[in-house]
Amino acid sequence: MRRPYVIGNWKMHGISTALPTISRIATAAQRLPHVDVALCLPATLIHRAVTAVPTLPIGGEDCHAEPDGAHTGSVAAAMLGDAGASLVILGHSERRVEGDGDAVIARKVAAAYSAGLDVVLCVGEQERDADAVRTVRAQLRRSLPRDFHDRLTIAYEPVWAIGKGILPDPSDVLAMANALREELGDTRILYGGSVTAATSAAMIEDGGVDGLLVGKASLSADSFIAIIQAVGDCALPAA
Ligand code: PGA
Repeated sequence: MRRPYVIGNWKMHGISTALPTISRIATAAQRLPHVDVALCLPATLIHRAVTAVPTLPIGGEDCHAEPDGAHTGSVAAAMLGDAGASLVILGHSERRVEGDGDAVIARKVAAAYSAGLDVVLCVGEQERDADAVRTVRAQLRRSLPRDFHDRLTIAYEPVWAIGKGILPDPSDVLAMANALREELGDTRILYGGSVTAATSAAMIEDGGVDGLLVGKASLSADSFIAIIQAVGDCALPAA
């Protein structure tokens, strides 16, 4: 059995006043040891979060493809690791619209691995259409370096569902999850896009994914903990 995995993505939200929220999430996660939980935070909050709640894996939301250099405003993978991050989200659609193409994302994945970080690679189609599986499979292949390994999680996030309050049909998520497993074998596949506590169980059980990448609903401890608990109560697909 793969272990269920729930990751919060705080995007550009959160300063030090959010530490009590992070602490509540960490406490709830400790009570559900059969669910893996992580929180990806703005780079400025990572070190404080890791220090305040050492039990909860903390991640970044992006990194640069180069290990260092003249890249004003960017954060290198090793800097995230130095701040205490153990994972990083790469290829999020909100980074792709800022200009990250698949080839750059593949270099970022390699940079994150070199820095010892786990990678959560986001893929997803722009528009809801019949070609989605083919489009996303191709995007996945282009977004991975030649040497990727098992410290990889894929988040399937249809762009049209992110932050919109609309969800795909779980049977379409299942078809996508199966196609991605054909590409990657045992890698955990998460679903992301407008997940709430009320919809998470259906996405796991009918969508056949191993967990969820949660944006807005991860900002409140109450709603994120409710999602973690709902995922913990689900039966996961057999590995
Ligand atoms: P959302 O964001 O849950 O707010 O739709 C998900 C994501 O962008 O990862």
